[in-house]
Amino acid sequence: MATPRRRPLIMGNWKMNLGPAEAEKLVDELLAILPPEPQADIAVAPTFIAIGPVCRRLAATRAILPGAQNMHWEDHGALTGEIAPPMLAEAGVRLVILGHSERRAIFGETDDMVGRKVAAAYRHKLIPVLCVGEQETERDTGATLEVVGRQVRAGLEAGGPPSDGDLVLAYEPVWAIGTGRTPTTPEIQEVHRFIRDEVAAIAGQATADATRILYGGSMNPKNSAGILALPDVDGGLVGGAALDPAGFLTIILSATA
Ligand code: 13P
Repeated sequence: MATPRRRPLIMGNWKMNLGPAEAEKLVDELLAILPPEPQADIAVAPTFIAIGPVCRRLAATRAILPGAQNMHWEDHGALTGEIAPPMLAEAGVRLVILGHSERRAIFGETDDMVGRKVAAAYRHKLIPVLCVGEQETERDTGATLEVVGRQVRAGLEAGGPPSDGDLVLAYEPVWAIGTGRTPTTPEIQEVHRFIRDEVAAIAGQATADATRILYGGSMNPKNSAGILALPDVDGGLVGGAALDPAGFLTIILSATA
């Protein structure tokens, strides 16, 4: 059977960078240089405080999809400092990054919490971008697939991926984030293929074939074309390189549908 074509998704994760004014400026710079019909979907995830201005700036265009970097799973409540899914939906957010390794490692997010967040995203028609990835010691000891498989199952089995919603996963080896190091392309393809097989086991082959699996971790304008050409890589989740509009554009242009 022919490999299904999935439209690539290139998403910038701005992390804790760019306040509202800087975020709007970067969006304006991107809108000015993007080709009229890019071969990829493009998304950006600003900080919470910049989401309002960025969503308003993008309301009149479909060129860039607004995203968020995190959320709580409850709709409201006494949860000081948290942001609820319906609040993101109201602001115009379309995708939400969940279970990023920085959230897991620095803020103690567990597989169980990430699973609840994925289920909450579906309830509110937000597209979850479920992040998975191994630590360096786990790769060194041959535990990569075991770790990634556990994270995929925990992320998807709480609420179950719906048949009518988009699903995005991001494979981000923790040791590749912000380090300038990446796995080899065969290593990336191996994990992406494994993730797709796990999604198929949970949600069926049709869902797995439609699921976009992004690579993240030191993706840059020099290495993006080689990574994005892999059969089971359907886009990128880009950190540092997404803060430079020209570099981010180069990455976008290196994705071919
Ligand atoms: P870098 O591209 O800076 O390595 O970050 C990757 C990442 O964590 C995206 O979510």
